Amino acid sequence: MKISQRVAGVEYAIRDIALEARKLQKQGKEITYLNIGDPLQYGFQPPENVKEALTRAVKEGQNYYAVSEGLSELREEIAKKEKRKGLAVTDDDVLVTNGVSEALEMITASIVEPGDEVLIPGPYYPPYASYVRLFGGIPIEFSVDLHNSTPDLDDIRKKISSRTVAICLISPNNPTGAVFSEKSLKDLVDIANEHDLYIICDEIYDQIVFDEKFVGIGKVSGDSPIVLLNGFSKVHLMSGWRIGYISFNQSKKLEALRENVPKLARVRIATNLPVQYAALESLKGPQNYIPKFVSDLKKRRDYTIKRLNGMNGLSCSNPKGAFYAFPKIENNRYGSDKEFVLGLLKSKGILTVHGSGFGTQYGSGHFRMVFLPDIPVLESALDKIEEFIG
Ligand SMILES: Cc1ncc(COP(=O)(O)O)c(C=O)c1O
Repeated sequence: MKISQRVAGVEYAIRDIALEARKLQKQGKEITYLNIGDPLQYGFQPPENVKEALTRAVKEGQNYYAVSEGLSELREEIAKKEKRKGLAVTDDDVLVTNGVSEALEMITASIVEPGDEVLIPGPYYPPYASYVRLFGGIPIEFSVDLHNSTPDLDDIRKKISSRTVAICLISPNNPTGAVFSEKSLKDLVDIANEHDLYIICDEIYDQIVFDEKFVGIGKVSGDSPIVLLNGFSKVHLMSGWRIGYISFNQSKKLEALRENVPKLARVRIATNLPVQYAALESLKGPQNYIPKFVSDLKKRRDYTIKRLNGMNGLSCSNPKGAFYAFPKIENNRYGSDKEFVLGLLKSKGILTVHGSGFGTQYGSGHFRMVFLPDIPVLESALDKIEEFIG
């Protein structure tokens, strides 16, 4: 039977590669999963007050279709959070979604037409390219210097064409951990303004930074058209509950988008209502689990990066945020990065993700691993990676 060309091109390396691991697991091989950016699969849990808010909502009968834009108390609390970060928003500017993933799909659907180009940081989180392609557009990667977390402005300028509609920023970044400085963000906003581009900024890791203060896009955006994407999967430890949001700033250039994106929200009815109550509690309740989470991650990051850089044949820049290491494979006797990852999986049972899954231009020749497990698990996995490299 017929299948659309659009859907045939969709890829998600992080989960696609796990199919290989599951096959081996079925044959009895023990696998250490270092492929997926989900803290909840490595022992972290949402705080008790947040779990209780979810079950309370269910028990108290909040089990019906929610309003499409999201619970008004939650939108207010989200607006307060984003305002503290510097973005000029009110509750009317917020749309609650089933994760950043759905938010990204809605925004891409609303701005990309066949042949349009969208600039994305290379290497990129795969859905940015997949959704652009799904709607007939062309993702164009721009270069980022990973040693000092700086976007290459000349490269961006060269890659802007008459078909470019938007520039996407992800800070802190997946898979590289790069965190853009205030100056870099300002430079990017200026370029976007010169060319009348939307700025789509994903700040899902906004509170997971290790070395420097995080700066949100709102701080430098003024009245440029900003579409901010954020969610509860990472900092708020609610990945499985699927909740996120879009915040528009007050830019006049967003008028059409603000009118049209809510139509997509209405077509898909609503997001999960009990989870919206949990998200509300997660923003209003105590925040003291976050520094502990970040400090655990920092120790794991320091350990992982030191070990990787101590291995012959690997080099890894220091991720400034999020929870991913993205080492470069210096002399890959396995051929491609995917063969390296499959070799490591088959011989040592360690599942990572091939760098080319994050874009061939800047991702090839690398692999991505999470540093979410505790140090004994990381130590054993890194020992095996070291043995594999030999
Ligand atoms: C940059 C980035 N954006 C979005 C997501 C997915 O977010 P959500 O769980 O809210 O759909 C991820 C998950 O890894 C991510 O790394």
